[in-house]
Amino acid sequence: MNKYLITGGAGFIGSNIAERLLKEGHSVRILDNLSTGRFENIKGFAEDIDFICGDLSDYSTARKATEGMDYILHHAALPSVELSVKDPCAVNESIVNSTVNLFKAAVDCGSVKRIVQAVSAAAYGNDPTLPKTEDMPPKPESPYAVAKLAQEYYARAFYNVYGLQVLSLRYFNVFGPKQDPSSFYSGVISIFSSLMLKGKSPVIFGDGLSSRDFVYIDNVVDANLKACACPWTGSSEIINIGGGQSMTLNELVEILNKILGTDIVPGYKPPRAGDVKHSMADISKASALLGYEPRITVSEGLQSLIAWYRNNDLV
Ligand code: NAD
Ligand code: UD1
Repeated sequence: MNKYLITGGAGFIGSNIAERLLKEGHSVRILDNLSTGRFENIKGFAEDIDFICGDLSDYSTARKATEGMDYILHHAALPSVELSVKDPCAVNESIVNSTVNLFKAAVDCGSVKRIVQAVSAAAYGNDPTLPKTEDMPPKPESPYAVAKLAQEYYARAFYNVYGLQVLSLRYFNVFGPKQDPSSFYSGVISIFSSLMLKGKSPVIFGDGLSSRDFVYIDNVVDANLKACACPWTGSSEIINIGGGQSMTLNELVEILNKILGTDIVPGYKPPRAGDVKHSMADISKASALLGYEPRITVSEGLQSLIAWYRNNDLV
């Protein structure tokens, strides 16, 4: 049994990781300020964890949260490109300041063996090269992307200066249960599946031929656990986590129709400003260093997601 701290553990990805760690018999502490996350996400196992409702941008809170931990899975962030355009200061505080506090607290507490942190494929920007490999020069386009990239640079600096082990996982488009579909800027799968379950038409921005590397949450949870356990290579590696394949938005609607037994026709609107046309991860580094393989396909993941919505009366 190991002791894990999950920052942002009341959010979509963090709460799914917490659930798995508990099932595997580990001890879990969550630090979350419930800004974008919801207590609802952890309600089912709240009694089995140590929940600290607090803000990582406060060093003393970070220090308290890291005390006695073996591993930290760092997911706290205001994860919105749009918000980072409207309020870059808030996003910088929630990502950059919080990360520095966390790293410094981990060094000061002395028990932490490794930090695995969530970073983003947003680092690749609009570079059309496919698939994306980790050695491509970063081209961040938004304050959010810059902040997530800063996490990667801080990881390197803290290893160089303090010997703190930090691995950075660059997530592509993660989907699955507990992802909040309620905002205009929510992930496309959460929006489309919740609308189509109600018999409503989703709106595709563009011609529907844009494609994304969608990756089911269980694969992302696998990657986090493997990243804690893999041998240290001697540097703060940056590793893509995706499905290694891409799917167009038209294909996504088609598969959802098949799963739901519906024949819903999507609406089409002009492309969203700043959208990249295609995105796909090269996951060979994840495979080589972590032994990561996406064991759940997008189609299987979509079926599980729809079943989850139905079982939880969220239709
Ligand atoms: P989420 O909004 O569901 O989770 C983020 C959590 O962090 C929330 O529970 C929020 O309340 C908490 N939080 C924010 N600021 C905090 C602070 N200062 N102190 C404490 N808690 C704070 O988002 P998510 O989709 O689960 O994303 C998790 C991580 O993965 C983020 O770092 C995000 O940048 C990264 N990421 C996600 C995706 C994706 O497809 N969902 C893609 C790339 C990267
Ligand atoms: C996602 C991340 C973003 C990250 C980027 C890096 C989410 C919510 N966003 O952005 O934080 O910087 O990956 O790769 O995970 N779409 C529609 N109709 C809708 C909603 C979306 O057609 O109702 C389209 C979008 O225009 C886009 C595609 O679906 O073409 C994917 O959109 P979205 O899920 O928001 O993710 P990304 O834009 O890829």
